[in-house]
Order: sequence, then structure tokens, then C-alpha cells
Amino acid sequence: MRLEPVTEDNYRAVIDLEVHEEQRGFVASNLRSIADAWIHRPKMQPLAMYSGDDLVGFTLLHRDEPHDLHIVRFMIDRRAQGRGLGRKGLAAIADIARSEGRTQLSLSLVPGNAVAHGLYGAFGFVETGEVDGGEVVMRHDLAPTDHLAGGQ
Ligand SMILES: CC(C)(COP(=O)(O)OP(=O)(O)OC[C@H]1O[C@@H](n2cnc3c(N)ncnc32)[C@H](O)[C@@H]1OP(=O)(O)O)[C@@H](O)C(=O)NCCC(=O)NCCS
Repeated sequence: MRLEPVTEDNYRAVIDLEVHEEQRGFVASNLRSIADAWIHRPKMQPLAMYSGDDLVGFTLLHRDEPHDLHIVRFMIDRRAQGRGLGRKGLAAIADIARSEGRTQLSLSLVPGNAVAHGLYGAFGFVETGEVDGGEVVMRHDLAPTDHLAGGQ
């Protein structure tokens, strides 16, 4: 899985990515996320996720604290879901965080988003007990040895 900047060459395709209809309440549109990134630049960074040559997903990262990489948005296109790409995307984000010397990933999710919760839990995220804007906060401590389990 490769994470690439959103540029004038791929931003239309990123906007065209979509989740299943019943998942629309779980993540903002990529159009909205690109707007958020513009407003909060350079702390927020929008990234396109590629599997080989195929654009399969999108994430919006936020660097607000030195030790933390916050995942603001994370989605895999509905046509590409269920193939392990979500897990690979998280591994790629963890690699970025480690390469910057960060020690944790954080995110929040809508209660009831069972697939995302299962994915994050299996990856090593744990609930912190906090609720942020009605969303459940999860955190993943990055041990250096996690790299061995990362995968591409
Ligand atoms: C959450 C999301 C990114 C997962 O992407 P994905 O590529 O389908 O995930 P994976 O294929 O890596 O699967 C991850 C796990 O979820 C499970 N899973 C995937 N789709 C599932 C489904 N429809 N129902 C039940 N389980 C499912 C897989 O079995 C896998 O578990 P396993 O490793 O124990 O087998 C994707 O469903 C998505 O974009 N959802 C909408 C947006 C969203 O909710 N984003 C998160 C906001 S916090």
C-alpha cells in the first residue's frame, strides 16, 4: 500500500471514491476532507491510498502534537473493501508515524461502526474511555517492534 499526496492529477479521482450507502454516516466525504485539509494546512495532510496502480482509499492525517499522529478520516472505496486493504493502509500510516519518531496513533469513530472498530481493535487500537464530539476515542501505542508485523 502506497500513500501519495493529493495533487491536481488525482484529486478528482479521490473525490469520486465512495463508501457503501449505509456507511455514509461513518466518514465525511473526501471533498469535505480536502476542504478541511486546505483550511488546516499544513497540520492536516490528505493522502491517497494506492494498491499497486489502483487508487483504493483516502486518509486525512493531523499532526498537532509531537508524539501523536491523528487519523482524522480513513476510508476504502466500496469496490475495494474486504480485501485486507484497510489493514494495510493502517500499517502504512503507522510506518509514517514511526519514521517521524512518533509513538502513537489516535482516532475517533462513530459508535456502531462495527467493521471499523473490529479492524482498529485487531490492529492494536484500544478505547481510551474518552468521547470526542460523540465519537469513541481510540489510541494505538507504537512499539518499535510493531514494524515487523506491519506488512505492505
Ligand atoms: C473501515 C474500512 C476502512 C475497512 O476497510 P477494508 O479494506 O474493508 O478492511 P479490511 O479488508 O482490511 O478488513 C478489516 C477487517 O474488517 C472485517 N470486515 C471488512 N468488511 C466487513 C464487513 N462488511 N462486515 C464485517 N466485517 C468486515 C474483515 O473481515 C477484517 O477482519 P479480519 O482481519 O479479522 O478478517 C472500510 O470498511 C470503510 O471505508 N468503511 C467506511 C468508512 C469508515 O467507516 N471509516 C472509518 C472511520 S473512523
